[in-house]
Amino acid sequence: MTEFFDAPARPGTAAALAREFRDAFGEDPEGVWSAPGRVNLIGEHVDYTGGLCLPLALPHRTFVALRPRTDSTVRVRSRQETGEVVVALDEVGAGSPSGWAAYVAGVPWALQQKGFEGPSLTGGFDALVDGHVPYGSGLSSSAALECAVAIALAELVEAPLDDTGRAGLASACQLAENVVAGANTGGMDQAASLRCHAGGAILLDTDDDSVSQVALDLAGAGLALLVVDTRAGHSHAGGEYGRRRADVERAAELLGVPNLRRVDVADLDAALDRVGAEPDGEVLRRRVRHAVTEIDRVARTADLLRQGRADGIGDLLNASHDSLRDDYEVSCRELDLTVDVARAHGALGARMTGGGFGGSAIALVRADRVQAVAEAVDAAYAGQGLTAPRFLAALPSEGAGRDL
Ligand code: GLA
Repeated sequence: MTEFFDAPARPGTAAALAREFRDAFGEDPEGVWSAPGRVNLIGEHVDYTGGLCLPLALPHRTFVALRPRTDSTVRVRSRQETGEVVVALDEVGAGSPSGWAAYVAGVPWALQQKGFEGPSLTGGFDALVDGHVPYGSGLSSSAALECAVAIALAELVEAPLDDTGRAGLASACQLAENVVAGANTGGMDQAASLRCHAGGAILLDTDDDSVSQVALDLAGAGLALLVVDTRAGHSHAGGEYGRRRADVERAAELLGVPNLRRVDVADLDAALDRVGAEPDGEVLRRRVRHAVTEIDRVARTADLLRQGRADGIGDLLNASHDSLRDDYEVSCRELDLTVDVARAHGALGARMTGGGFGGSAIALVRADRVQAVAEAVDAAYAGQGLTAPRFLAALPSEGAGRDL
């Protein structure tokens, strides 16, 4: 039976969490906030080289009920974990605390590093977490947790919550992830969780951190975006992500540019010749070709969406996947299988989304084909003896905010 993973209703989830907070900590929370996971429509592995990405927020969110303390201590529990984690704020720093608490206690630390001020950042807090972004699925459950904590703290210290304010929060959350959690990711996931709006994706320019909203009326076009969680494990802290990043940074250095955004697609051949002359030139050529062509594909996808031509982006999604599979080498068997089966069963386009090496794929399908494509993917996994995948519907949803 094809399993769909639905997001629970926001108000009921938040109210239940507030009640549970009172049971756990003996007092009412100051409020309940939540932040979404994301899928990236296109623009993969380019957010650490000044590229363009086009993520949208999922309806699946992580909720945090929170109450400030005054003794510089963070006490945190999660409905998805056992026990309580207690962290002294003066012990937060590179690699500390370890585990999931890094995404909570790292946030007040990072906000202060970024110049945010207020008693709620130094005094600590009690927090109860309830995560509904599938964990370990490449859908940014970690960013959702960081961003839910960040939006709560920002509100408590009365930081501005317009898009500029949210960009500052996103960069603090990225810092928490890079330094405290020790995962050297780009900033796409946090930007998506904080800066997206219902009904659209954001065109994120990671060269100057600007965002423009891109309407995504898939239902109006008779389309749906099916997310397939392959259930194949992935980890960004793992070495492959870091190695890709190092390849790209080295290529930029050889080309004498601050990042690969500066290489125009019209000048790609010359850039490939230049890096190809290195001893490891063949690998660098493929990495550069992915980044430069991917950034171009994002711009073309955004143009088509702005013209209301969502049904015309399928080939770009397909080309993105093929490039990630062959040139960037971040796909895996389950992702390739999903993409192949979805395409064979009528998807307009399909690709891996997120960091790769497992995680999730997306398929752009006619609305009346969603079930058929999901069943075909399910059957293919069963046929190959793989763990059954999970399916989500990606409705472009609202970024982080207060629930109660
Ligand atoms: C992960 C990282 C992001 C981005 C993607 C790949 O999700 O957290 O910063 O690099 O991989 O596009």
